[in-house]
Amino acid sequence: MNFELKTLDLHAAATHKTDALIILVSAKDKPSKSVLSQLIVNARKSGDLDDSPARLLTVWQPQGVNASRVVLVSSADGSAAQVRKAVTAAVNAVKAAKPAHLTVCLTDATDQRLQAAAQAVADASYVYTATKPSAKASTLKRVVLALPTAEKTKAAKAAFEWAKAQVAGVSLAKEWGNRPANHATPTHLAKVAQELGKKAGIKCQVLGPKDIEKLGMGSFAAVARGSVEPLRFIVLQYTGAAKTEAPTVLVGKGITFDTGGISLKPGPGMDEMKFDMCGAASVLGTFEALSHLKPAINVVGLIPTCENMPDGTALKPGDVITSMSGQTIEVLNTDAEGRLILCDALTYAARFKPRAVIDIATLTGACVISLGHIRSGLFSPSDELANALFAAGEAALDPCWRLPLDEEYAEGLKSNFADVANVAGRDGGSITAAKFLQRFAKDYPWAHLDIAGSAWKSGAAKGATGRPVGLLLQYLLADQNKTTRRAKA
Ligand code: BES
Ligand code: MN
Ligand code: ZN
Repeated sequence: MNFELKTLDLHAAATHKTDALIILVSAKDKPSKSVLSQLIVNARKSGDLDDSPARLLTVWQPQGVNASRVVLVSSADGSAAQVRKAVTAAVNAVKAAKPAHLTVCLTDATDQRLQAAAQAVADASYVYTATKPSAKASTLKRVVLALPTAEKTKAAKAAFEWAKAQVAGVSLAKEWGNRPANHATPTHLAKVAQELGKKAGIKCQVLGPKDIEKLGMGSFAAVARGSVEPLRFIVLQYTGAAKTEAPTVLVGKGITFDTGGISLKPGPGMDEMKFDMCGAASVLGTFEALSHLKPAINVVGLIPTCENMPDGTALKPGDVITSMSGQTIEVLNTDAEGRLILCDALTYAARFKPRAVIDIATLTGACVISLGHIRSGLFSPSDELANALFAAGEAALDPCWRLPLDEEYAEGLKSNFADVANVAGRDGGSITAAKFLQRFAKDYPWAHLDIAGSAWKSGAAKGATGRPVGLLLQYLLADQNKTTRRAKA
């Protein structure tokens, strides 16, 4: 899908040739004599259009208009969230006509509104085809995002590049999230990373079982033991700033399938545990976006990836394992495997002397109980980092919500047989999981995003969302601005 940024006021839009002309309307629009403006005025008069969220009217080949169909859609208060809603509704309304060329006319666009519009077009037209030959791939080839004046178009250039990069990153994360576990093994994910490593500014290194043993990652290795698929530890490095500039490290949970191991999960819905690598996919997606934007920052991506399977060699409840940090762990439940692979990656992260480490994981069912599918869970002992990530989530329409990390929550992780147990009972499960991780993230500012509820949708719309690539990109680019300001000062 190719995006273009263009200047089109409603007068020019009438002669613009496209399969579907989507016009966002709001109460603030100033009517003019142009055909399209008159169409809007009359539709409002007749009650076929108003300013309620995503109210929509499709008109087929109106006179004096070159487009095959016009979709008038209300952007309500004009906020980015309403722009996303309106564009989603409009694309869904014309999808059946299989448009190849689509145009979205925005009246004015802040960075966020432009990004919301681009992301909404991409999301609404996404079709999964990798293992479904009968699915018809999206016909959409060209998407024009239009602003009414040349000044507005000029001012939107940077936001437009950002929007395209975000769309590419989210698409990659969605695609790999959606692929079933037999088509998305640790080896496959490593290949995706190696492809990213060929792009300018990105280096990729992939470690295997022997390297992991040498590094002393006994916790990660223990989870992988029950599977015939070999584990991979992916190290991605994006260098856009001076080598002396401390990197932000992103750590993504890459369990390509989570059966629970010997603490086997119940059967119904277990297929959804193919999504247990969505944290990893979001790191890959963020690197894809960085390769487009080439910002002046340094970012490291770490992905421990393996399957969690039951087997004669698998980890057993009660086993005590030794993590890379030297801390021993009593594994009371083999289904709490995410924290076991992440803890060694968090220890490894320290070698980059990072300015911050953010791990992203489909970590706990408890987080889904707390926050549902709207907001990701956010945990950090640092107010500064937590506030920055929260703000990034708001701006990118990829929201999260901070949960506490009081020391008292760690009480239940005490073990008689090891330095720490890997579970602490059901209560406050997403917090106790975060408390476990925190023990391994003492040497740098750290945050944890639990995306168990936000990374994919269930039911008829079953599929990966590509979250939180938008949030991460927003955070990293806001951070870039801080870095440049520091350099200039
Ligand atoms: N990958 C799951 C978490 C999960 C479950 C995400 C359901 C989304 C939906 C994780 O590995 C897991 O199994 N966690 C356990 C932890 C428990 C054993 C303490 C859970 O949440 O049940
Ligand atoms: Mn599990
Ligand atoms: Zn898991």
